[in-house]
Amino acid sequence: MKILRLHHVSVLLVAACCTTQVLAAEPDYAKAALDMMKADFKAKGPATMERMVQQDEAQALCSANPQGLKPKPAKKLEQAQLAAVKYPADGQYMGDWKNGEKIAQNGRGMQSSDAVGSVNGGNCYACHQMSKTEISFGNIGPTLYQYGKLRGASPEIVKYTWGKIYNAQAYNACSKMPRFGHNGVLTEAQLKDVMALLLDVESPVNK
Ligand code: HEC
Repeated sequence: MKILRLHHVSVLLVAACCTTQVLAAEPDYAKAALDMMKADFKAKGPATMERMVQQDEAQALCSANPQGLKPKPAKKLEQAQLAAVKYPADGQYMGDWKNGEKIAQNGRGMQSSDAVGSVNGGNCYACHQMSKTEISFGNIGPTLYQYGKLRGASPEIVKYTWGKIYNAQAYNACSKMPRFGHNGVLTEAQLKDVMALLLDVESPVNK
């Protein structure tokens, strides 16, 4: 019996020692992942190394807090992003919804297989339902069907919609939606066309 007891104690001791050791040796997975991307990613055309490994302050803060930010830092991030939104200099927010539909459908741009300087799409349908006629769409984002019909086009709605598309993080700190204006994905003219797709009464979004 005595021998057995001693044996148990030693097993416990071994377990205690080794669990601590394993925890202490836990690798830095974030660094390992970044090192792997730096070593293995081959920059090509518009898919540059900077876009792969360099984060701005907002991205870094969101990456460091995958469970979401506390209300105060979230508000601070949103305010800083909102302050950097550029509204159309001519005060004209609405372009052509027909072009907007093409931009929303287009998922090309900024990829390794795209030519440098080629026109980018917005790929809105990848995450949103928009018109009733297009039945192929993703649902990471909420449906935008009847966006303008339901909300109208008051100056407040127009300004909010522009700001949201220009920089989604201005209204939702760690939004999953690309920052189309902020990151120069879409031009001002393209943003106006997408605005018309959402807000023009003639647009299929509002039928
Ligand atoms: C990668 C996915 C993704 C893409 C691509 C995307 N969005 Fe979004 N969008 C979202 C998500 C997720 C939300 C909801 C969370 C949030 O508000 O940030 C959202 C929210 C919105 C909202 C706010 C809706 C509301 O109820 O106020 C608008 C407007 C919008 N998106 C428009 C667009 C347009 C226009 C495009 C294309 C130019 C686009 N989105 C592309 C993911 C996406």
